[in-house]
Amino acid sequence: MNTKHFTSHEELSQSAAEHIFMQIKQGIGEKGSFVLGLATGASPKRTYEILIKLLGVSELNLENLHTFNLDEYHPMWQGHKRSYFQEMYKCFWKPLNEVNKTFEIPNGHILNGESPKPDLECRIYEKMIERAGGIDLQVLGIGINGHIGFNEPDSEEDSRTRMIDIAEETRESNKQYFEDNLDKVPEHGLTMGIGTILEAREILMIVTGENKKEIFEKLKKLKKPNVSIPASFLLIHQNAVIYSDV
Ligand code: PGA
Repeated sequence: MNTKHFTSHEELSQSAAEHIFMQIKQGIGEKGSFVLGLATGASPKRTYEILIKLLGVSELNLENLHTFNLDEYHPMWQGHKRSYFQEMYKCFWKPLNEVNKTFEIPNGHILNGESPKPDLECRIYEKMIERAGGIDLQVLGIGINGHIGFNEPDSEEDSRTRMIDIAEETRESNKQYFEDNLDKVPEHGLTMGIGTILEAREILMIVTGENKKEIFEKLKKLKKPNVSIPASFLLIHQNAVIYSDV
């Protein structure tokens, strides 16, 4: 797999942000629009900060920039401070709108964790991605168990956007955001499927931090995808790159 190695998180974030910026600039210049897939979590946070600065000073017209997030807890009220909706509002959509008014906050899309009909919600989300023209570039983090989005181990290559059970390791790892109380971490999530993610024209996965070392070592040894490490499906993507500092 194509991997770019960096000596620091800052250097990685700068390079990833510049790459994403150039792709958005090119997409908007050539076809007038761009569809960016976003991940939540600590890994891409700094990349987003830098990207937003670049988009702010660029004066690009972002009215046809759409973003689609990978996942959301379920059930989860959008106003909950730990919802991915709130995270994206605070770290991406709102600050981007502040520096470049042409980006409209409603063009930031995320699965609705409040939906009483999660299956329908997931089908509609797939349609929305399709109608937007498909994802041009998908940003990914990686879970300590190798998950991408909430596609936990045993997720299939052709899986689509769906409701899933969140793995215990993932809930344990996320409880830091829920007052260290595992009982408060939702047991289910809605997530783009592996098949949905693999349809993105380009994928950029960020592997950063000491706690990702072990899973990254395992991933690097694989020659073909293995359902026990969902991130390994990137091996069959034509245009996937890993930005790593581990
Ligand atoms: P992190 O999460 O970026 O906060 O480590 C990644 C993930 O669980 O997918």
